[in-house]
Amino acid sequence: MTMHTRQKALLLKSRQAEFAVEEIAVPRPGSGEVLIKVESAALNPVDWKIPAWGFLRETYPTIIGFDGAGTVEELGDDVTEVAKGDRIIFQGGLTEASATFQQFAATKASLVAKIPSTLTFDQAASIPGALATAALGLFNPYVMERSVRLFPPWEVGGRGNFADVPFMVLGGASSVGQYAIQLASLAGFSPIICTASLRNAELVKGIGATHVLDRNLSAEGLKAEVLRITSKPINVVFDAISLSETQDVAYELIAPGGHLVIMWPDAVDERKKSAQPFKNIVFVFGAIAAPENQKLGISLCSKLTALLEEGAIKPMRVEVLPGGLSGVPHGLERLRNGQVSALKLVVRPQETE
Ligand SMILES: NC(=O)c1ccc[n+]([C@@H]2O[C@H](COP(=O)([O-])OP(=O)(O)OC[C@H]3O[C@@H](n4cnc5c(N)ncnc54)[C@H](OP(=O)(O)O)[C@@H]3O)[C@@H](O)[C@H]2O)c1
Repeated sequence: MTMHTRQKALLLKSRQAEFAVEEIAVPRPGSGEVLIKVESAALNPVDWKIPAWGFLRETYPTIIGFDGAGTVEELGDDVTEVAKGDRIIFQGGLTEASATFQQFAATKASLVAKIPSTLTFDQAASIPGALATAALGLFNPYVMERSVRLFPPWEVGGRGNFADVPFMVLGGASSVGQYAIQLASLAGFSPIICTASLRNAELVKGIGATHVLDRNLSAEGLKAEVLRITSKPINVVFDAISLSETQDVAYELIAPGGHLVIMWPDAVDERKKSAQPFKNIVFVFGAIAAPENQKLGISLCSKLTALLEEGAIKPMRVEVLPGGLSGVPHGLERLRNGQVSALKLVVRPQETE
């Protein structure tokens, strides 16, 4: 196999700059790392927020992209988890070398998972970041404030532990919401109530939601519908959207002492908080490569192939954008404008011209 030294990558030249495809060096895998030929990379809302809001990256030019699928091209020293040629998925992007908007990426071998033959690279790329975010927010016992710290359903003895315990997801059709539903379903929660556009009702029911409520209901309307479904206290509400309005209604839906998992910083009205008994707010950091998240990430990655084979975790619907990496900016515009519904946009970096 020839060693690749040059590649095409989508560069963000400076804060708030446009993206541009350029030729740069291929990253080298360090000890315990693999070099991956990225066949498919998925787009995430954070990809447009980084240049627009200026966070997560301090120096430019930089490369982003957080979801990848591809083949193992080269092994660094001491890699035992995978072999050359394996088809794998990974969440990259915390470092530039592991970012997925490039043709080759390097990441820790312990943080990748083999893809079953039943899944395409494009389907596989829809999984890692959103799954990791849901998993970390709900099941990471190794952090204090950034997880509900429930027992993971992928571990032995983790299935079905929460029978007859209600669970709620705001934004059940979103990427993170879809994996929160699937993990809650594996953990046995029931009912699993979510909000979505009603056109997505069948899709979210197909992955484990038991009840789907119209995302356009008023706060009062939503509370009334939830009460009609269950009179039990709701101890966990997962707000995959986390706008101030969804956080506010989510906070009201939680039982005293329960947990609200949010994707963006706490925006719950302070007056509401002081007028109610304590409720725990968990602001998740969904990167499995962050030091505090790696232990859970390794456990999830080691079980993920089997979960995918079994169909316990399903990929999202995907749309492949034309033009390889050059297709990313237009896709990000669609995400920014709220024009992507229950769907993962992906690009194929090897098709970049
Ligand atoms: N903290 C972290 O580490 C972390 C990690 C990952 C993501 N995030 C953030 O989490 C959020 C979700 O990310 P994502 O990748 O899951 O997004 P996404 O897949 O692009 O979400 C799109 C979906 O959001 C749904 N939606 C939008 N507004 C809604 C509302 N008011 N109520 C219910 N559903 C609504 C839409 O559902 P319908 O089509 O049914 O209308 C749409 O399908 C983003 O803000 C992202 O930046 C944070």
